[in-house]
Amino acid sequence: MVQRVGVVGFPIGHSISPAIHQAAFDALGIPARYERWEVAPADLPAWVAALRAPQTLGANVTVPHKEAVVPLLDALSPTARAIGAVNTIVHRDGQLYGDNTDAAGFLRALDEVGGVPRGAPAVLLGAGGAARAVAYALLQAGIGALAIFNRHAERARALAVALQAHAQVPVEGFPLDAPQRAERLARCALLVNTTSVGLHGDERLLPPAEVPAHALVVDIIYNPPQTPLLADAERRGARTLNGLPMLVYQAALAFECWTGHQPPLERMFAAARAALA
Ligand code: ATR
Repeated sequence: MVQRVGVVGFPIGHSISPAIHQAAFDALGIPARYERWEVAPADLPAWVAALRAPQTLGANVTVPHKEAVVPLLDALSPTARAIGAVNTIVHRDGQLYGDNTDAAGFLRALDEVGGVPRGAPAVLLGAGGAARAVAYALLQAGIGALAIFNRHAERARALAVALQAHAQVPVEGFPLDAPQRAERLARCALLVNTTSVGLHGDERLLPPAEVPAHALVVDIIYNPPQTPLLADAERRGARTLNGLPMLVYQAALAFECWTGHQPPLERMFAAARAALA
């Protein structure tokens, strides 16, 4: 019996998850078909109910459903509960289990470039769903302080307050244009962009001169492979990382949840690169 699994979002046409996962299933000879499911918010409960069909392995969840899907599931991993968002659903015997592999995927991606600078300060741009997973990961991995800057200041402050409740180190939230920004950037060891700014054209959130030259600069955007932020960071001599490794590692961890098999990472990276070429 061919098993079904897929990614749900709205819209979903841009997702390269089908290419990454199908390559993994095919490489291991697992008879599964990875589909792309475009589901409007109003149809999400019915879609979740259909996941309980016997031949369904589970699903990946992307924008805008990662939070909305939470109350529709039977159980959550501690990580998904702490982040308040699910990117992976595992189906077993009619039960749906929600997990979040974004945080661990982000940390594994960072491991490739030296890992989280433990004990050192970090700056996060953005306060949406992706920011929550990254912030959770950084605090778990022992970052020394976290300053969150966001266009809508109240979102940055609310995220900082929620994180601070469980963190042993200072977590601050600021508006994007706060006077503290230049100083926090100048002394950070890690800067992560989780906003969508950089997806299209020449847009940037920071003046190039403020991009820290001695930090690791990460953009979770993978297409384009080099955002204006990463180009500025490279020009200033900083180390950089784009979003592709995080995308592939979160997929690999989801694959492991569904199948129990070691994910064929090289095949998954190759499929991702081919889908973007
Ligand atoms: P995701 O789940 O991908 O993080 P999201 O929750 O919609 O998506 O968050 C998008 C992030 O990008 C937010 O931090 C958003 O800032 P606001 O909270 O102020 O809306 C940020 N963002 C999107 N477009 C932006 C822009 N043009 N300028 C600054 N920030 C922007």
